[in-house]
Amino acid sequence: VKLLRHPTDPRWSEVSRRDLAALLSDHLHCERKAAENALSLVRRYAARPSLVARLTRLAHEETSHLVQMAALLEERGLSLRADTPNRYARALLAEVRPDEPQRLVDCLLCAAFIEARSHERLSLLAGAFARDGEERLAAFYAALASAEDRHAEIYVELAREAAPAEVAARLDVLAAREAAIIAALPHTSRVH
Ligand SMILES: [Fe+2]
Ligand SMILES: [Fe+2]
Repeated sequence: VKLLRHPTDPRWSEVSRRDLAALLSDHLHCERKAAENALSLVRRYAARPSLVARLTRLAHEETSHLVQMAALLEERGLSLRADTPNRYARALLAEVRPDEPQRLVDCLLCAAFIEARSHERLSLLAGAFARDGEERLAAFYAALASAEDRHAEIYVELAREAAPAEVAARLDVLAAREAAIIAALPHTSRVH
């Protein structure tokens, strides 16, 4: 699925790699929050078998990314930093409408955008690490990036199952909002 309307500014790739410990720590916390978010949807929408089946598996993949990130930090002799508020995700999730079934559709589509943006940025990092001669990091980020692309698709499919008539219009609104949010954020050593 093609969700993103605003490509990441190329300067982000340069700035993001300046503080590797900060970037890898933020990325580890992103994987943790991705798993937590999927599991909280499983709790809230327990009566939806397809959602439960797909998001439990997705959470399992996110925790496997988390394990790999922790190993990567350890291998590089870097210690995990405290999590800091993710302005990007918060601003996007502020668009979630409060009543069902809109709330479910919006939560799923916001998650789809976060996965799609993560896919884009992890792919950019894979390319940048390859140019730096960091072959292992490049391969690692390329593998994670392709998983996040599949996750974006899973969230869009779940939104279509929940409310097929709503999805196209809502994707349009959220795509514009996501593009504005990402364009307004400063470039720092974090995923977004
Ligand atoms: Fe992930
Ligand atoms: Fe993901």
